[in-house]
Amino acid sequence: MPKIKIGVLASGGGTNLQCLIDNIKSGDIPGVIDIVISGNKNAFALQRAEKHNIEGIYIGKGNYPVLKERNNKIKELLIERKIDLVVLAGYMGILDEEIIRDFKNKIINIHPSLIPSFCGKGFYGERVHKAVLDYGGKITGATVHFVDEGTDTGPIILQEPVKVEDDDTVETLAKKVLDVEHKLLPRAVKLFSEGKIEVQGRKVIIK
Ligand code: GRF
Repeated sequence: MPKIKIGVLASGGGTNLQCLIDNIKSGDIPGVIDIVISGNKNAFALQRAEKHNIEGIYIGKGNYPVLKERNNKIKELLIERKIDLVVLAGYMGILDEEIIRDFKNKIINIHPSLIPSFCGKGFYGERVHKAVLDYGGKITGATVHFVDEGTDTGPIILQEPVKVEDDDTVETLAKKVLDVEHKLLPRAVKLFSEGKIEVQGRKVIIK
């Protein structure tokens, strides 16, 4: 099975990145992470990349102050490296329409809720879990989806529910959802790398 080239965009702690690294190392995912791009130069995700001899690059307001410049640099790198799949794993930047068009159905994102609930602008990190608890939700979960021009609006690839307990806090709920993310994202990357994902309009068929 040919190995797909993966580019990961991560601006945080990088636990999802770490799961991809581990699942590639175990041979479960026939791919290679060619580059990690972060919008946060202090992101632990960059340290994880370095530890595993993966090139990590900071592209942020500090070195590319203009958003268009940042996106042009990201696009240039993804094309230059012949990346087959772009994974957003806690990436806080905004990818412009050019990149999304050039990599149509080749960019996936992991979101910590069951889209279309508790997603879209402003719904990221612990804010998502706080919104679920404030609303009194009984079920939440994680979603892996293709990235389109909207925010968290692309075709859904995989989802898995997480039960909300009466005594859950933002922290306990975030942990339960993150544990599910750590299973779901590698599974989606594996399916993509094996050519088992087919997009039919809004529907994603797993072959
Ligand atoms: C995850 O909760 C993911 O759902 C969201 O950003 C977070 C990234 O966490 N998009 P980590 O950096 O992978 O630990």
